[in-house]
Amino acid sequence: MTTTAHPTETASAAASGASATERFHTDKSPFEAVKDVPKERVDTLAREVLEAIYATVRKHKVTYDEFNALKAWLISVGEDGEWPLFLDVWLEHVVEDVATEHREGNKGSIEGPYYVPDAPEQGARGTIPMREDEGGTPLVWSGQVTSTDGSALGGAKVELWHADDDGFYSQFAPGIPEWNLRGSFTTDEEGRFEITTVQPAPYQIPTDGSCGKLIAAAGWHAWRPAHLHVKVSAPGHELLTAQLYFPGDEHNDDDIASAVKPELILDPKQQDDGTATVDYGFVLDPVKG
Ligand code: DHB
Ligand code: FE
Repeated sequence: MTTTAHPTETASAAASGASATERFHTDKSPFEAVKDVPKERVDTLAREVLEAIYATVRKHKVTYDEFNALKAWLISVGEDGEWPLFLDVWLEHVVEDVATEHREGNKGSIEGPYYVPDAPEQGARGTIPMREDEGGTPLVWSGQVTSTDGSALGGAKVELWHADDDGFYSQFAPGIPEWNLRGSFTTDEEGRFEITTVQPAPYQIPTDGSCGKLIAAAGWHAWRPAHLHVKVSAPGHELLTAQLYFPGDEHNDDDIASAVKPELILDPKQQDDGTATVDYGFVLDPVKG
């Protein structure tokens, strides 16, 4: 494991930003995947983005002071390591919409900056790694993974990661054990799984860095509603990346990352013993062609 925040650091934008940037570099070879994209497409995309900016500058008569503030701010986003956060909060949701619009099964939601592959394996039924005194309402989540034709997908992988009761992610905020609230489950022959975890708290994107500066300057808020992150995969099927939300969260309607969809809001039932139970499954699209 390469991405562990230093235990002496506090949960600052610089710490989680640097970890998210490092994580992105270790996981992906982004330029390799687009090395054969034709010049015409690069030209169209780059030119149309610039033209949209020119139109904004002209429409609102952007001044030199504002231009210079933008320059300084863009430089500081990089220095803070906050490009992954910025892009995942303000751009990923529309890329995700486009990427999954053809699907008949679950469409999904953004990945965000805090996924780590190869979380500990828990089988079809189990408890996600957590501390003995982990805060939050215990949640028992059962579900089934099926294909779009209704057939059960046994051996499908359900990877779950989420923030703790304070809104922090292990491996990106200091002082949390490695793999805390991160687990990988494998469905049984009927495609079923049952995961015991705790409900996460709403999450505030770091406010002490450059993204926070923009939020404050624009009079926005920094909140995402409480959410569970999942990746669901099965051989011959498209990978589903999604987030699940809880009813009644005040930020379901104004998520800073615009990543809530009505079909992703769970319907948990409170039990007498203080736990909540929920049934929610996934439908995966077969890979075409
Ligand atoms: C960010 C954090 C998240 O947990 C998430 O799901 C999406 C975005 C962020 O800080 O950018
Ligand atoms: Fe998240």
